[in-house]
Amino acid sequence: MKKFSVVIAGGGSTYTPGIVMMLLDNLDRFPLRTLKLYDNDGERQAMLGDALDIVMREKAPDIEFSFTTDPEEAFTDVDFCFAHIRTGKYEMREKDEKIPLKHGVLGQETCGPGGIAYGMRSIGDMIEMIDLMEKYSPDCWMLNYSNPAAIVAEACRVLRPNSKVLNICDMPVGTLRRISHIIDKEPQDLEVRYFGLNHFGWWTSIKDKEGNEYLPAIRDYVAEHGYLTQKEVDTQHTDASWQDTHKKAKDLLAVDPRFLPNTYLKYYLYPDYVVEHSNPDHTRANEVIAGREKTVFSMAKTIIENGTSEGCEFEMGAHATFVVDLARAIAFNTHERMLLIVENNGTIANFDDDAMVEVPCIVGSNGPEPLSQGKIPEFQRALMYQQVTVEKLVVEAYIEGSYQKLWQALTLSKTVPSAKVAKEILDDLIEANKGYWPELH
Ligand code: NAD
Ligand code: G6P
Ligand code: MN
Repeated sequence: MKKFSVVIAGGGSTYTPGIVMMLLDNLDRFPLRTLKLYDNDGERQAMLGDALDIVMREKAPDIEFSFTTDPEEAFTDVDFCFAHIRTGKYEMREKDEKIPLKHGVLGQETCGPGGIAYGMRSIGDMIEMIDLMEKYSPDCWMLNYSNPAAIVAEACRVLRPNSKVLNICDMPVGTLRRISHIIDKEPQDLEVRYFGLNHFGWWTSIKDKEGNEYLPAIRDYVAEHGYLTQKEVDTQHTDASWQDTHKKAKDLLAVDPRFLPNTYLKYYLYPDYVVEHSNPDHTRANEVIAGREKTVFSMAKTIIENGTSEGCEFEMGAHATFVVDLARAIAFNTHERMLLIVENNGTIANFDDDAMVEVPCIVGSNGPEPLSQGKIPEFQRALMYQQVTVEKLVVEAYIEGSYQKLWQALTLSKTVPSAKVAKEILDDLIEANKGYWPELH
């Protein structure tokens, strides 16, 4: 079997060790010859890189492993770039979450004003990275899950329409895993129909391979428990705040019981609830800094101090095998069925062609082929149109340096009550994002 060369961009990410362990566990399906880490924060990356160097020498000495901040070194001779960068790191995520809350508006990584601010920071870095990849490895594919994926995907559509970038999200994967537990199946036994935008969608069908429909049974369960499952088999999305999000899905379902909602709809359908249940002095960024970041980096420190990973192993990000599935689909033309963020072009029959939507696709060596999802109801169509227009306005504001368009984007977001509040938040965000955003005029 062919062996591949992979670079993980955002090498200092809290997810990097989990992805590396997952790749090591999948070598029979996706063999590697080279694995590189790339980050623009050398110090942060080295803490994980030094530890992973020990892990790789112990577990897979045949794979050439390295980490670098030099783009040429990182992107030369690579087949795949797995991208999970966070422009501005947790320091800026905290501001994205806390600034809107000061104005009584929810603060979230990818939704509402926080997501818009993060989008304005990410676009430039993502485009620069795509250009570097194409310069040094023109045939390379980027599998991107850097957030905010909806805005990043729209920026790619407008600015780099021919680039080999696939944008993917793990939320539908994680929720489908919970759904499969509800009906005592495995996720790979199930075939879904789904429509929406990233962090903004609905399942319309969940069938097994024989064609039996499980949606009504799942709906009965979700109406009572949300996506909280009895047996705690998951290692992802398990913190108390995530449990609350899984549970809240029952109130999302109540709004339209025909379809199973993506958990992120909570920020658009119940923004008042989210604000009431937020602590403006301690947001999700603070939880992650004290939780996942601390765990991962202290484990790296221990491995380096011990000079071995024996007795102290990074946890495998088993949930991330979808990244290998996606890479395999392209590498081996497997025609895997996966949800991806792609240009609509009629996939949702009554939605704009040029909208980036999240839908099931068949993925092969030439990329994704979206599967037709037919017409969607007016309620969802209207919500989606409002949100996708926010995302488009952000990208236009970035390209044109337009204050007006960014103000409109914030005003249009369902999470913001008025143009007045939108302007107040915007002015604070501009101040906080100096050096990250283009100059607005
Ligand atoms: P993190 O801050 O721990 O890691 C991000 C890393 O990216 C940092 O080490 C940072 O230095 C680096 N970085 C920032 N800008 C860079 C650039 N221009 N070039 C190279 N490296 C750069 O964050 P995390 O919590 O581990 O998350 C990483 C990313 O993955 C975030 O964007 C997050 O939102 C995303 N994510 C997406 C999904 C999904 O469903 N799509 C799931 C999980 C995480
Ligand atoms: C889900 C989403 C990601 C998001 C992550 C945040 O996995 O799909 O897009 O980045 O949650 O998780 P965190 O634990 O960092 O709050
Ligand atoms: Mn996501």
